[in-house]
Amino acid sequence: MSYTVLARKYRPQAFEAMTGQEHVVRTIENAIKLDRVAHAYLFAGPRGVGKTTAARLLARALNCENGPTSTPCGTCKACTEIRDGTSTDVAEIDGASNNGVENVREIRENAKYLPQGSRFKIYIIDEVHMLSQAAFNALLKTLEEPPGHVKFIFATTEAHKLPDTILSRCQRHNFRRISAAAMLKRLQEICVLEKVNVSGSSLSLIVRQSEGGMRDALSLLDQVIAACGLSPTDADVAEALGAIDRTLIHAFAVALVKRDAKSLLTNVEEIWNRGLDLRRLAEDLAFHLRHVFVAKATGQAPDELADSDRDAVLALARESDAAQVARLFDIVHAAVWEIARAPQPKLALEMALLKGLHLAPAASLPDLIARVEKLSGGAAGAQGGRSSSANFRA
Ligand SMILES: Nc1ncnc2c1ncn2[C@@H]1O[C@H](COP(=O)(O)OP(=O)(O)OP(=O)(O)O)[C@@H](O)[C@H]1O
Ligand SMILES: [Mg+2]
Ligand SMILES: [Zn+2]
Repeated sequence: MSYTVLARKYRPQAFEAMTGQEHVVRTIENAIKLDRVAHAYLFAGPRGVGKTTAARLLARALNCENGPTSTPCGTCKACTEIRDGTSTDVAEIDGASNNGVENVREIRENAKYLPQGSRFKIYIIDEVHMLSQAAFNALLKTLEEPPGHVKFIFATTEAHKLPDTILSRCQRHNFRRISAAAMLKRLQEICVLEKVNVSGSSLSLIVRQSEGGMRDALSLLDQVIAACGLSPTDADVAEALGAIDRTLIHAFAVALVKRDAKSLLTNVEEIWNRGLDLRRLAEDLAFHLRHVFVAKATGQAPDELADSDRDAVLALARESDAAQVARLFDIVHAAVWEIARAPQPKLALEMALLKGLHLAPAASLPDLIARVEKLSGGAAGAQGGRSSSANFRA
């Protein structure tokens, strides 16, 4: 049997199976229940977050033999044909390659005729922003007053490129990037179903690289399994993704907080020898410091971290000082740009990290004040106090 990529294999087959687009799903389910389905929908949002999936589910919901229903059966002729892309009444059109006025004229002609076996004739136009101006104009009239048996569902990653005339004739739904926590949960479920053993820490690396797109996340998981098999170690996964193992990133953060210059330099050397991308290291480290800062500010490790990473981040947050972490973040974040431009990236990174050791205050402000007070109290007289606080300022 041929291998199906995870993104296709795990395309949600019911509205309730969609991760993270509850606001859209709820509105559509309600519209179906109340029999108030609009004649034209626009699904807008970043790539791989469920627009096409939702369009197909809506098509099924409308044409299911037991429908219209927000829970299409998935087994009737209409449902299975839509799933397989063979329904004569549901046309999935790629707007990028069918963007001419003649393509829209064809739709217009075709839309006049009643559906062959189903309730509605449904036109799903993907990447609809690619239509030409003339094509949009040709679409306007039909979109304004389509025959009762016609529904349009448009999907786009670039809604801002659509003319206002089109926008105002559609009911628009904005799809969101999927939250890290929701995506992590979904990936964990899929790993169980696929019987692969990828640690939470590695999965959260995939989540971060996919930037909220579920398709990207699943493609990365495919890539990891292809490269490392069913039980990869964290280092394997990091390598397969061209990333740096989180344990090592954490080691950098710890060394910065604890002012351990030696360990910083050894670790830079190691990364350099392994041929890993130093800019990437700085980016990952900036992210990691951000997590520590969030943990410090909220008392909780950020949701997007795997359980195994949370404890380490929380522990470091407890040991560090907020002002110090904030300044370390600034330095490392700025280093990302410096490294990208530097003729000697390694030098730029090392210097940035070493600066991080010296710039950040040695202790928290309350600590310093306490020490100043102690000194001024203990050193008999105002003068000693003044000179020691002057030392701290220097
Ligand atoms: N919200 C989601 N919940 C669960 N899986 C999802 C979700 N969004 C995307 N996926 C996964 O990603 C795959 C691609 O999703 P889909 O085709 O719906 O994305 P899209 O938003 O249309 O992307 P594009 O803009 O690139 O066309 C699906 O087959 C599914 O595996
Ligand atoms: Mg799509
Ligand atoms: Zn059905």
